[in-house]
Amino acid sequence: MSTATPSSHESEAIAVAAERRWSFVVAAIIAVLVLVMIVTGLHWSSMPPSRVETVDVKTLHLRGEFVERNLGTAVEADNRVVVRLVAQQYSFEPQCIVVPADTPVTFRATATDAIHGFIIGRTNANTMVVPGFVATFTTSFHRTGEQLMPCHEYCGTGHEAMWARVQVLPRDEFMAKARPGERLSCVAR
Ligand code: CUA
Repeated sequence: MSTATPSSHESEAIAVAAERRWSFVVAAIIAVLVLVMIVTGLHWSSMPPSRVETVDVKTLHLRGEFVERNLGTAVEADNRVVVRLVAQQYSFEPQCIVVPADTPVTFRATATDAIHGFIIGRTNANTMVVPGFVATFTTSFHRTGEQLMPCHEYCGTGHEAMWARVQVLPRDEFMAKARPGERLSCVAR
């Protein structure tokens, strides 16, 4: 006797309308996300990870490029400036990193124990550092002076005390200090 029950034709129309509404909402969400990716990519020059490079956590302090004497900033034979660092609970090694201004600098970082990360001041240098993997990116610093480099992944009770400093030197000053085969840092000796 009920007249409120819609016919099968009407209920199909209601379902189609509801589905269409949802598809508009979903399409709008996807459009916003794509827009965010494009804006951050172009405006902030964000650098999504593009490759996977592994390293053995058990031996990285014994051999290979992440042994202690190889950490810090190096001018490679091909004149590339490369910074190698290790993150561990609760510090970065080296604690003070020195880089030249207005020069492409490649960072290579890994972690020994937990997931860490770092961001350098108000630059676009920003990465997670995951045990077993080498995080790498290349960036340039345009402002000289000192920047803070805090760990930005919660890594345990000492997380908020985990940070390093980055000293950006004028290119000439940096190059005058750099010696072939040597590792530079600004850790006080
Ligand atoms: Cu290391 Cu948080």
